[in-house]
Amino acid sequence: MQISHNISLKSFNTFGIDAQAKHFVSVSSIEDLQNVIGLNEYPKKLILGGGSNMLLTKDQDLLVIHVNLKGISILSEDEDSVLVKAYAGENWHDFVLWCLNKDFGGIENLSLIPGNVGSAPIQNIGAYGVELKDTFVCCEAMSLEEKKLRTFTKQDCQFDYRNSIFKQQSKGQYIITSVTFKLTKYSHKLHLNYGTIASQLQEMKVNNPTIQDISKAVITIRQQKLPDPKEIGNSGSFFKNPVITKQHYLSLLNNFEDMPSYPISDDEVKIPAGWLIEKAGFKGKRFGDCGVHKNQALVLVNYGSAKGSDILKLSELIQKTIKKLFNVTIEAEVNIL
Ligand code: EPU
Repeated sequence: MQISHNISLKSFNTFGIDAQAKHFVSVSSIEDLQNVIGLNEYPKKLILGGGSNMLLTKDQDLLVIHVNLKGISILSEDEDSVLVKAYAGENWHDFVLWCLNKDFGGIENLSLIPGNVGSAPIQNIGAYGVELKDTFVCCEAMSLEEKKLRTFTKQDCQFDYRNSIFKQQSKGQYIITSVTFKLTKYSHKLHLNYGTIASQLQEMKVNNPTIQDISKAVITIRQQKLPDPKEIGNSGSFFKNPVITKQHYLSLLNNFEDMPSYPISDDEVKIPAGWLIEKAGFKGKRFGDCGVHKNQALVLVNYGSAKGSDILKLSELIQKTIKKLFNVTIEAEVNIL
């Protein structure tokens, strides 16, 4: 374990922002993690996983701890289910592929989501009708204060839409070291309701889809809509989809008949922020070296050398415009650092 100094974080964040870490260490064992947390000469620390949900708006004058814990194992199994534990530093999509290769079902709809296993519970990643919480059993996390591992059950995590305890009262207090999932072995529960999945499978001429077919369909849809961070810097959805009152929704419908929506409860409705941003005229627009993606307006992109502060400014302009046009507040989904 070696601490380096003045390191560029460009290759450690999917936005490809060239901000510096004053101090940087990559840890690949629990013991190293414990030791590094105990280093009093670095009182301020930032935990870095896959770097796929952050916007670096400045140099980081602290110790960046890159969690590089690896390993996937089967803990136990019964007739139709299996408990699989994956360490935090495993790439999420590689983990999905590992499960598909063993024919373990439950996370196929979450194919191709950037980032690592350890970050997935923090924002309860979700796509195409499935969320991480659906197969989550527990996770282990190291307390920065006590330097000890603690287990969080599903209930402890307080999962919600793109939210968990790790974004709320326990923010910045724990480093997730591993996650355990309960997956199916034979009677897979297929999630085909999300509109585009069914039509994609049809296009692929698949009538009785397997979990592998669903993964392929999701990969195709994502590749069409979402930019590959290896080619163009981005952090997936930059904003969360806002939830508004039914009354507000009905008044907007008067002016915008084609506005898509998802009912949340009797008096709340979720609106796709991508639609609002497109309607506001931002889709595909470029501002210097940053912009709004041409196929999915919820995604902000770095065309090369944009600064984090440029992207932040653009996001604030979008937020202000949406507020003015629709009286709707859209919140950032990515962590702004
Ligand atoms: N829409 C537009 N214009 C756009 C984008 C979307 O009109 O530029 C409309 C679509 O036509 C559709 C609706 O908005 O009616 C929903 O679009 P989409 O299916 O692309 O999903 P989303 O709500 O924009 C969410 C997640 C994505 C996830 C997809 C699929 C959030 C913040 N984002 O996007 O997650 O992949 O659903 O399940 O909930 C991520 O979190 O990084 C992410 C990519």
